[in-house]
Amino acid sequence: MDTTEKILVLDFGGQYNQLIARRVREQSVYAEIRPYDRITPEEMRREGYRGIIFTGGPNSVYDPASPHCDPAVLGLGIPVLGICYGAQLLAYLAGGTVAAAEHASEYGKTVLHAENNTLFEGVPQESVCWMSHTDSVRAVPSGFTVIAHTEKCPCAALADDARRLYGVQFHPEVTHTVFGKQILKNFLFSVCGCTGNWKMEDYAARTVAAYRERYAGKKVLLALSGGVDSSVAAMLLHRAIGRDLRCVFVDHGLLRKGEGDLVEKTFREEADVNLIRVNAADRFLTKLAGVRDPETKRRIIGEEFIRVFEEEAKKIGHVHALAQGTIYPDVIESGKGDSAVIKSHHNVGGLPSVISFDEIAEPLRELFKDEVRRVGVLLGLPEKLVRRQPFPGPGLAVRILGEITREKIGILQDADAIFREVLEEGAVDPLPDQYFAVLTESRSVGVMGDARTYGYTVALRAVTTDDFMTAEWARLPYEVLEEASGRITNEVSGVSRVVYDISSKPPATVEWE
Ligand code: XMP
Repeated sequence: MDTTEKILVLDFGGQYNQLIARRVREQSVYAEIRPYDRITPEEMRREGYRGIIFTGGPNSVYDPASPHCDPAVLGLGIPVLGICYGAQLLAYLAGGTVAAAEHASEYGKTVLHAENNTLFEGVPQESVCWMSHTDSVRAVPSGFTVIAHTEKCPCAALADDARRLYGVQFHPEVTHTVFGKQILKNFLFSVCGCTGNWKMEDYAARTVAAYRERYAGKKVLLALSGGVDSSVAAMLLHRAIGRDLRCVFVDHGLLRKGEGDLVEKTFREEADVNLIRVNAADRFLTKLAGVRDPETKRRIIGEEFIRVFEEEAKKIGHVHALAQGTIYPDVIESGKGDSAVIKSHHNVGGLPSVISFDEIAEPLRELFKDEVRRVGVLLGLPEKLVRRQPFPGPGLAVRILGEITREKIGILQDADAIFREVLEEGAVDPLPDQYFAVLTESRSVGVMGDARTYGYTVALRAVTTDDFMTAEWARLPYEVLEEASGRITNEVSGVSRVVYDISSKPPATVEWE
């Protein structure tokens, strides 16, 4: 029997739903996110949740379009913690009233005055919390008491200890709330009675055992890109079924310097994974000859990738399962209205159509990225691979502006390797979230010795970001830029100038193409 303690994060459309789930998991308690209208109280009971967290949301509870769950949720006997909109909804569903904040909205760091309550064990009477709201609870429902206030918000937290129902107007999940972690911990351990048994070691062992049983003696096929997700998925399945896992690694010739060999060494030589490396650079470069348009490059690479993968897979014959490196953020449905759709994500850029398989295996679909990395380390993958920055599927094709040639690939690989080396040598800590070189089409005059040169301009790009939807250009120290520029112009022939990209996203994008 699965004895994992689970918390339900009931999503009402707030921007922090994933953060809440991650904060819970950081306490070694498993949390899963479900849209508010996709789960009934009966299902909640059946799932055996230890506690339910109502997330924030953009609406007012009186707005007819605002998301409401069944009030019966409060009568399940399962503890509830409402956050922001979730607290207002909890109060409203329990018979209290909510009003637009008397002194208009409250936003930012605010002093919280907390009463004695289980939720605030270990929290000082005064501490800083993070507020972001317009409405707030005006009259608490019967059975509830106010357990915290701020200068502008008379009910910053409410509790019905007997029924184990709690609400906080502030956001305990963000780091600005200094004791937020402690408050969540109190809810999970003191209120819900969790013990914290969600450990990556156990998770990895359980998943390996489950796949061993499910796929014993059956063939599973996986497209290995060398990225974090497909690498960890490969290691998990390899532990479970050994050489029955067939990994196909398509090297399109547009990888970073030495990357193809590193993948081969890590998986085939060191881990004894059944890996087929397809060196398909010629095929891809022939298809890409003369192509300048970025979207056309992407389409050609995506299509060719599938074709190469299918050809290799056909040689293997029927496989029982096709494995994908899908992770939790890819499968979470959002609680933002009725149009919510499940995001789909396929490592190989679409499902191959000519391969016959009975099912899809997604061994990482319950994990956040940081958890995937932890499992990877536990399974013995090198830190270097597990901490790897994201790399686009079309590879260097979208970092070589205009037409792609072998010569340009070589130049870019060398320049990029130097830039990464300079940053990773410890000169920059923490490292930017993504950093790479771009080969522009612009050529300019340079001088080397007594000779005039006419070489390419390489652009360096480094960004910091939380989610890659927006990004800031990284403020790298001048000395680091100087070293990278000096080494690139000296060591990479064909480059006479180096520039640093100081555009943020938006309006620029991370990649140049
Ligand atoms: P942009 O350039 O859109 O990049 O700001 C955001 C993130 O997405 C990556 N990226 C891609 N990844 N296929 C991929 O697998 C692509 O075609 C692609 N284009 C951009 C980019 O590296 C960054 O992490």
